[in-house]
Amino acid sequence: MKIVTITGSPRKNGASSRIAEGFSSAAEKMDCEVIRYHLNEMNYRGCQGCNRCKMKSPVCVLNDDLSHLLQDLAEADIAVLASPVYYGDTTGQFKCFIDRTWSYVKPNFKSKLEPGKKALFILTQGFGEERHGDVCERYTAFLKLYGFDVTVLRAPNCSADPSMDVNQYIDEASKLAEEWLSRD
Ligand SMILES: Cc1cc2nc3c(=O)[nH]c(=O)nc-3n(C[C@H](O)[C@H](O)[C@H](O)COP(=O)(O)O)c2cc1C
Repeated sequence: MKIVTITGSPRKNGASSRIAEGFSSAAEKMDCEVIRYHLNEMNYRGCQGCNRCKMKSPVCVLNDDLSHLLQDLAEADIAVLASPVYYGDTTGQFKCFIDRTWSYVKPNFKSKLEPGKKALFILTQGFGEERHGDVCERYTAFLKLYGFDVTVLRAPNCSADPSMDVNQYIDEASKLAEEWLSRD
């Protein structure tokens, strides 16, 4: 079972990263290997629109820190993707990564990835839950396009305070890991 966690907040111990870690540490307790990528620590460019991934190459031709991530994510059984809302979308770091997943799609918009994968999309935000539902809808649609069965975990009313209590959501993420990874 291959689990890949990608966190898009620049705050390594911020709410979204801590919630993602809830899933990852529960998975590790169940003897699963977790590969963690913290996007803010990586050097990469956004998609260059060259479309060589459609014509000449099965993978993105850019060679940077996302090359390995895209390979690992393509092979993952479970993807945990976490970002806060920044200006009505995911962070720039996360959006640049998502643009590069264009390389997962064939010219006919069918996915190049194997079916049967699960994704947990974690979104934190300052506003209440009545705002930014569109972000979840959009990213769910992108991930579904690649063949992921998507579950969304939203944490509204999250302040920037590093001691912000998100235990309720960490528990939710941890329970999901137990549910998805239990062998019986
Ligand atoms: C540059 C910036 C833009 C933000 N834009 C929004 C926004 O549009 N809507 C919102 O609800 N919260 C917004 N926030 C608040 C964050 O989404 C919120 O504090 C989130 O919990 C931070 O997540 P993190 O702890 O994982 O970094 C913004 C924060 C920053 C720093």
